[in-house]
Amino acid sequence: MREITFVKGVANWAGLPTDGLPEVAFIGRSNVGKSSLINMVTGRKALARTSRTPGKTQQFNYFRVDGRYYLVDVPGFGYAKVAKTQRARWQRFIGRYVTTHAPLKLVFHLIDSRHPPTALDREVMALIQDSAAAYIVLLTKSDKLSGNGRPKAVKAVKQVLERYGFEVPVVLTSATDRRGRDEVLQWMATYVPEGER
Ligand code: GTP
Ligand code: MG
Repeated sequence: MREITFVKGVANWAGLPTDGLPEVAFIGRSNVGKSSLINMVTGRKALARTSRTPGKTQQFNYFRVDGRYYLVDVPGFGYAKVAKTQRARWQRFIGRYVTTHAPLKLVFHLIDSRHPPTALDREVMALIQDSAAAYIVLLTKSDKLSGNGRPKAVKAVKQVLERYGFEVPVVLTSATDRRGRDEVLQWMATYVPEGER
């Protein structure tokens, strides 16, 4: 990853890129750490804006990497405090995005490692059942867990994923101590191989 540029923020369907570059999306409930993880993975401290207050990211933010593909910072799924109509709108938009947007090659679904998957996390899993993109779960904020809390968290999430018919990688990550960075980069290289473009 040499050159990363913020391209645009997209708030409606017509705004999605049409250049066909592959997309890697970071999806998950509000405040789970999507923007922080994008910064950690890219090694750019303030590329994506983060906030202690949920609901910070309110558009699909597109970052182009080496002219080859996009990283997409998606608004929080189902944040209760934004207006109900706005929340429903994003949920529909995200649903349509994961199920019909052909350039989307890989979905990273971020789940807080400290809690079992919530109803919103399970809604995301259900949406992704109908997606053609590869699916990988990233457990966030694992710096907050104890040594044996980590494998436990992975196991708990895998059990829920099984109920949705998924047998997919679950990666422990932390934007604070950079755990999981190499593995996340490897999955990106797997699904957006260099040389393909
Ligand atoms: P929205 O844009 O509101 O949907 O949130 P987001 O998912 O992009 O979360 P964001 O990256 O803004 O982080 C939310 C809060 O969690 C911030 O206060 C971050 O500092 C904190 N945070 C994110 N990642 C980590 C992590 O790995 N460890 C710890 N301890 N805190 C984290
Ligand atoms: Mg964000």
